[in-house]
Amino acid sequence: MIDPAPLRAAFSERFGGAPALVATAPGRVNLIGEHTDYCGLPVLPIAIDRATCVAVRPTGDGIVTAVSKQSPREARIARRAPDRQHEPWHRYLAGVLEELAAVAPGRGADILVDSDLPMSGGLSSSSALSVGLAAALTAAWDEPLSGEPLAQLAAAAERRVGVETGGMDQLVITMAEPGHALRIDFLPPATRAVAIPEGLAFVVAASGEDAPKGGAVREAYNERVVGTRIAALMLADMLGVDIEGTPLLGAVAGIDAAVVMVEELPVTMSARSAANAAEANVERLVSLTAAHYDSSKKAPVRAYARHVLSEAERVDVAEAALAGGDFARLGELMNQSHDSLRQDYKCSTPALDRVAAAMRKAGAFGARLTGAGFGGYAVAACSPEAVERVIEAAVAATGGPAFRVVPSGGVSIE
Ligand code: GLA
Repeated sequence: MIDPAPLRAAFSERFGGAPALVATAPGRVNLIGEHTDYCGLPVLPIAIDRATCVAVRPTGDGIVTAVSKQSPREARIARRAPDRQHEPWHRYLAGVLEELAAVAPGRGADILVDSDLPMSGGLSSSSALSVGLAAALTAAWDEPLSGEPLAQLAAAAERRVGVETGGMDQLVITMAEPGHALRIDFLPPATRAVAIPEGLAFVVAASGEDAPKGGAVREAYNERVVGTRIAALMLADMLGVDIEGTPLLGAVAGIDAAVVMVEELPVTMSARSAANAAEANVERLVSLTAAHYDSSKKAPVRAYARHVLSEAERVDVAEAALAGGDFARLGELMNQSHDSLRQDYKCSTPALDRVAAAMRKAGAFGARLTGAGFGGYAVAACSPEAVERVIEAAVAATGGPAFRVVPSGGVSIE
């Protein structure tokens, strides 16, 4: 974890005066339930013992000046007209400021950011930044936000950067409890802490490939968001179910016949032909906060739906396995999740496959890619005694880094 004391000292050196407060927002590792959140289906992530720290001092001039220890270029953004150009992390700050437009509009801030989370890696450095900024700024402007409203604001800010994120990352970063995973449901919204039993440890390992959400991953991710909506619309049509608004697979997942009907879906389908077939408005399928989607582009909807519906079931079984201390079962489910993400969801890479396989071979109960995929990190569940072996195997497979992560609490302010 970052020590806030040197960060405060660095702030004083840079801005000439102490910060009013420091927000510490952890990264996250999803244990299981991948690419289900934006379908309205459950997830089971943990917050980890690595974080992004945001030191803030409020000012009265309506200008936000932000410096990051990880990047040379400072951001200087007028609150009246947030400018989203420049470096990727500036866009997240601008997104947060746009969402906070109505909060203390005349005020500004000086900000210093530091992080020990790997950037662009699937451990949610972007959500840690967004949540940390939103928590720190609202507290410094005397309108503090926490819990679900904070998570929702950070998620909306990130969608402005172009990835139609489902909300898992921001929720676990705000709501996690030390020593627990967080089961999150979306339809209807609910969270519950799930204790991590003694004797279970987690290791994360880099694939060696960057997966920046604000960059190349954006289009591939959004294609899956729309692809699952197409599948949901078609399944609802086949099952005679009415769904209002955006079609989500979560609206049909509880119907027994849905899993069977998945195999009746077309292999690929465009949003336009789905809208025609189901007599629905195509906008319900393709509308994204800040990105364009080509409604004539075909997506492999059958395979996407197969992954999402099977993954949602695995979340339930994994939660029960955790509660019962059945680590072998948990590991099996993680392996199945990885296979489904590789074969049906097509978001693994050879390096992720390699590092997951190496960790299993070294004695992990199970291993899978974590986060959106397309590169980034894999997570393994193992016994505490196996941690060193699993780390060594991961480093031998991809060059690392690989390290143990400890289930930690959500964002805090001091
Ligand atoms: C990214 C998104 C999350 C979630 C995962 C995939 O991390 O931000 O909302 O969709 O991908 O499970």
